[in-house]
Amino acid sequence: MARRPRTAGATPVRELRRTAIDGCVLLTGDDIPYRDGAEDRVYELVSAASDLSSLSDELSRQAKTWAERYHLSGTRANFLRPFALPPNATVLEIGAGCGAVTRYLGETCAIVDALEPVHDRARTARARTRDLDNVAVFVGMVGDLPAQPAYDLVVVVGVLEYVGGADPASTERRRFLESIARLLRPGGSLILAIENRLGVKYIAGAPEDHSGRPFDSIDAYPGESPARTFSRSELAALLAGAGLQSTFHSAFPDYKITRTVLADALFDEAPELAWRLPDFPSPVWIGDAARSASEERLWRGLVGDGIGQHFGNSFVVTASKSDAETSLWPPDQLAAFYQPSRPAHHATETRVVKQGSGITFRRRRMREPATPSAGIELITADAPFVAGDHLLEVMESASDEEMRACLRQWRELLTEAVSEGKRCLLDLMPHNIIRRPDETLAVIDAEWSGSDLGLTELVERGALITGLKLAARTPAERWPGPAVRDAVRHVGALADLDADGGWIDGAVEREAGLQAQVGLPPGASSAERDHEIAGTHHYYREWLGRPLADLPLGTPDHLRLGAALAEREQAQEQLREAIAQRVATEAEAQALRERVAAMQSSRSWRLTAPVRALAARRRGI
Ligand SMILES: C[S@@+](CC[C@H](N)C(=O)[O-])C[C@H]1O[C@@H](n2cnc3c(N)ncnc32)[C@H](O)[C@@H]1O
Repeated sequence: MARRPRTAGATPVRELRRTAIDGCVLLTGDDIPYRDGAEDRVYELVSAASDLSSLSDELSRQAKTWAERYHLSGTRANFLRPFALPPNATVLEIGAGCGAVTRYLGETCAIVDALEPVHDRARTARARTRDLDNVAVFVGMVGDLPAQPAYDLVVVVGVLEYVGGADPASTERRRFLESIARLLRPGGSLILAIENRLGVKYIAGAPEDHSGRPFDSIDAYPGESPARTFSRSELAALLAGAGLQSTFHSAFPDYKITRTVLADALFDEAPELAWRLPDFPSPVWIGDAARSASEERLWRGLVGDGIGQHFGNSFVVTASKSDAETSLWPPDQLAAFYQPSRPAHHATETRVVKQGSGITFRRRRMREPATPSAGIELITADAPFVAGDHLLEVMESASDEEMRACLRQWRELLTEAVSEGKRCLLDLMPHNIIRRPDETLAVIDAEWSGSDLGLTELVERGALITGLKLAARTPAERWPGPAVRDAVRHVGALADLDADGGWIDGAVEREAGLQAQVGLPPGASSAERDHEIAGTHHYYREWLGRPLADLPLGTPDHLRLGAALAEREQAQEQLREAIAQRVATEAEAQALRERVAAMQSSRSWRLTAPVRALAARRRGI
């Protein structure tokens, strides 16, 4: 579709012609006190960067803290990528921050007005889009814009929760949404991304993303909080109050670093995909998680019960003034997912689409490599959805004998593939094998081809990965020892590897090498490669050493707390007894001292003094 002409007067706010500082047009002199502390460094990094693109590896790799990742990660636009944003759209982004999402909008749509109330952030959004002449950045709030229906699309990402703060009935929040409705052209849409206050990770004890306190949003923010998020029906009601009809999508682990976006239709069409596509447990960005239940099991239960759509960790909502709206979400699309932590040339997008009576997985690279990569290669063919049980899930509740049988089936498949000289062996692992209802096996999700690993090394890789995955999905008592390494060793023994687990360290070393091939951008130096390998080693060592009791199905915090309280009670009791004993001993000693003093002051003691002195001399005292 042809783009609209990019003229300075393309939107009413551009016609105001106000003063500009650092390339940003000032609509207001007021600042709001919103900072995350990363603003200055992010501005420096963006100003110095040569690759400003939304998938920039250069920027992603320089982010060290969570706040820096938030502004610079190449995954920031993933929650928007599954939507078909019209290329000719005129877009307003409200609360653009440091421009992570603005950049993607500028790459995708014809005209983008980015509005950000904090000057220090707006100047970074400007720096991030300095080569895109279709993007204008304004310092101000929504009330500073001419109230005209000028936009096809309004985008609000991680902002609504701050409007009106923690106040449950804020009029500022209501007015904010009403203003957005007024700015939309007929047929225009709002896309709003926000956490769900009843998100499954919060129910499982993850700290609330704004206050850092576990259960804060579940308890409806009983204390002070910088922000307030909403449940699905609360949010739908807020939008309806502004005359906007909404459609919800669920994002995992959240809208910030998105791996998976699910449409409501997926929950009906293929519930098993709705619980398998997200990865668990969700990462914790700030604070410490309290462990109450396994997030993964909880999610399976909610989806199985038909209510999963209310408990996704974040919502990506599209809303419009009329339901005659053309949907921005492709009608046959059920979900999309991304590989969040890879450099751009290895990052993939997979769209899950309905095709006839079946479902297809369409994988594509997010960026073509400048030079063909040496070593393993990414496969980007379409693949059909195969219904059945994942071998890994079967093993979750299997006895040793059943697990041994599953692992044998897998080894047979692998042996056959190796002897046939197949190239897609790296992913031929138990978690990618489905047992169809007729008991035949199917291999899914072949993503990499070409590797020089032999059969034994592939079996070791499978046992390592399976052991790590099963450790996180089974109760600690399932395994013959207290640490994750014991689970991995046991899986290895059932897969006919040495029962002492001597193979584990070699398998970890090879895995670190493989991960470096996937995880480094082209042209990485050998020092970067060594650093990457050392990091992966450290990660695996830490995982293998972790107590099983600390994993999702380990000891929940309320039981630990109960045990700790009982221990404290016992210690207090012992202390009380010791004090009592000591008091008793003190009293006896005192009585004795008094008796001796009484005796020494007695008349007979004084009269017998010469006799005692004579006796002492005779004894040589
Ligand atoms: C969590 S950040 C999100 C930034 C950006 N949308 C992103 O996703 O990278 C929240 C942003 O909302 C802005 N903000 C807070 N209250 C606002 C309001 N009432 N109107 C517009 N923006 C607001 C802040 O300045 C901040 O940049």
